[in-house]
Amino acid sequence: MNQKITINTLKEMKEEGIKIACLTSYDACFAKLQDKAGVDLLLVGDSLGMVLQGDDNTLKVTISDMIYHSRLVSGVTQRAIIVSDMPFMSYSTPAQALGNAARLVSEGGAHVVKIEGGDELSQTVRLITQHGIPVCGHLGLTPQSIHQIGGFGVQAVSNKAAKELEKDALSLQEAGASCLVLECVPSSTAASVTKLLDIPVIGIGAGIYCDGQVLVLHDMLGLTPKQPKFSKNFLSGNDSIFDAIEEYVNQVKNNSFPTPSNSYE
Ligand code: KIV
Repeated sequence: MNQKITINTLKEMKEEGIKIACLTSYDACFAKLQDKAGVDLLLVGDSLGMVLQGDDNTLKVTISDMIYHSRLVSGVTQRAIIVSDMPFMSYSTPAQALGNAARLVSEGGAHVVKIEGGDELSQTVRLITQHGIPVCGHLGLTPQSIHQIGGFGVQAVSNKAAKELEKDALSLQEAGASCLVLECVPSSTAASVTKLLDIPVIGIGAGIYCDGQVLVLHDMLGLTPKQPKFSKNFLSGNDSIFDAIEEYVNQVKNNSFPTPSNSYE
């Protein structure tokens, strides 16, 4: 598929059962390779606080950082859709969220903005989307709440928590979200949410049944000292970074990644 990817394309891919291959992207050099290798969605993630800036979490990332990195990625990308994270405390009120989302689009070149949280954000999602900016939700492990969650572990494990997650996901969809990232939740829970929603669900550590997969680029290139269980080193066995990224895209598309060993039950 060589056509430019939009939120409509993502929805059609869900409807047609075509898996959506996504990776984080932070600069022009890698973005060019990723776009050429067929990655459908480039996520300018606030994980750049850990991956590029060397922090233990994402909390020091600023809106200026996100605009800067979004601009580097959007400047060279021809096909993939670009989703940019709104960083910690940049969307604490609907009005603040709208102002910062607008900057990510107009200054950074983002096509979609991503925010972490559930039903409590429905007013914010509604306001941003009413102004013509698509929103991606993010549920499960939400790294901006790391101090409240208490660690980077698997989420929504109990039946009650899984039901809450479903409610939050429906509420985001109802408010106008165009897609949803589900991070570190049991495969069965992710499968139920994916079936429940009309919008595409992109998993990371959420099993094979999501509509698409996302990984942190530096994890899947084996550059992170401790590889998370849900990731895989695609550079190992490949001769180049381009080949590694292309293999990731192929494995997502033909359902050979993730395996049960990259997932939680
Ligand atoms: O910031 C990020 O890279 C993310 C992914 C882990 C989904 O939000």
